Amino acid sequence: MTLKLSVIGCGYLGATHAACMSSLGFEVVGIDTDQGKVDLLSKGELPFYEPGLDTLLAAEMKTGRLSFTTDFSAVADADVHFICVGTPQSKDGLAADLTYVKSSVAAIAPHLKEGSLVVGKSTVPVGTAQLLRDQLATSAPQADLAWNPEFLREGFAVEDTLTPNRLVVGVANDRAEEILKEVYKPVIDLGTPWIRADLPTAELVKVAANSFLATKISFINAMAEVCEAAGGDVTVLAKAIGYDPRIGSRFLQAGIGFGGGCLPKDIRAFMARAQELGADQALEFLREIDAINLRARQRVIDVVRADLSEDLTQYKIAVLGATFKPDSDDVRDSPALDIAAQLQAAGAQVVVHDPKGIEPARKRFPNLDYQEKVVDAVKGADAILHLTEWKEYRELDPSVIGQLVKSKFLIDGRNMLDRNMWRAAGWRVHALGRTD
Ligand code: UDX
Repeated sequence: MTLKLSVIGCGYLGATHAACMSSLGFEVVGIDTDQGKVDLLSKGELPFYEPGLDTLLAAEMKTGRLSFTTDFSAVADADVHFICVGTPQSKDGLAADLTYVKSSVAAIAPHLKEGSLVVGKSTVPVGTAQLLRDQLATSAPQADLAWNPEFLREGFAVEDTLTPNRLVVGVANDRAEEILKEVYKPVIDLGTPWIRADLPTAELVKVAANSFLATKISFINAMAEVCEAAGGDVTVLAKAIGYDPRIGSRFLQAGIGFGGGCLPKDIRAFMARAQELGADQALEFLREIDAINLRARQRVIDVVRADLSEDLTQYKIAVLGATFKPDSDDVRDSPALDIAAQLQAAGAQVVVHDPKGIEPARKRFPNLDYQEKVVDAVKGADAILHLTEWKEYRELDPSVIGQLVKSKFLIDGRNMLDRNMWRAAGWRVHALGRTD
């Protein structure tokens, strides 16, 4: 008999997982405490932007296999329960806030049927899975718990779920592994590497992977600082070191650094957990990674000040991009928005454009000025800051934009624009980490 699945938490991760598991042929119920989110998803509509997921969700709703509810008792029918709730940074420190993980496991415990498996997917501090498993042993001894971290990237969520580059499962026994193999059979059959680990290792794999990625980005941004000081070009440097397969060319894009709902909070939570474990020295370097990352934002503000004036009150700055990366409407810890808000706090008149992120950005920073069209955002600007590398910005015509601004000054915070083309149209261009 085919397994039935439940997905607890229908945010970015959960909604994607639910729709993808349904597309593999499983009956899936998604549960979320937010009635508004459940209503939207039940209509086959996404509460956020993710390329490809909208059509998949709509198609899966039509099959009748996929449903959403706020009622936790709906898990009673399911055999495998994926915990996909958020673990944000806590308000009073660096550690992850585990409130939602703990409350969702407690909420499903009374409804779990004999032999069911609870599978954590949320990113948690190492040790959480064992703690939850011990709790379940008392509250729902008929159930077991495993950990199966996700590695999905926003913008590629469906692809990363259905054709991941590996599947990692943290299990305490063979039975849990067998159940997960049954769930992921179609993915395993594609040749996806399968890694069985113990619970703590599975939890650590996720934060280790994100720490490595963050380190790569901050490494190249540190090189950008040195290139600026020494008269070098970080893009050429990145290209040259990237040809060494031991280094690899990906995630060496220098600019204003990383943001989003994962990398910043994950490296901080990892440091906080290491401290609790007495291993803080091992992760001391992550403090520097975080500092380099935040410094990249400050460097843009320094360039603006050095070029325009220390006092920005008389200047209008157009910011292109609000989301933390392109092809997403996510503005969580977005470097672009942070820079926009800091410039506004310094007295500048800041106008922000983004193809998808204006509404989420407005919720976070209601006092910034937003424009739906680039041509309206740049009107009369003393400087244009390219801070999120949407394709639309690479297609801008510098001559057309040049007729709208007050001063033809461009800062490329992502090193993605063709600066020769902009210069040929009479622009002064400053690209981070490039001195010429
Ligand atoms: C990340 C991980 O990649 C993913 O595996 C994990 O599951 C969740 O966290 P995501 O947050 O979607 O995914 O974004 P990612 O594509 O990793 O980019 C993170 C940030 O780094 C973005 O702000 C991006 O602009 C920045 N970045 C990325 C750079 O500044 N330079 C690079 O070379 C690459």
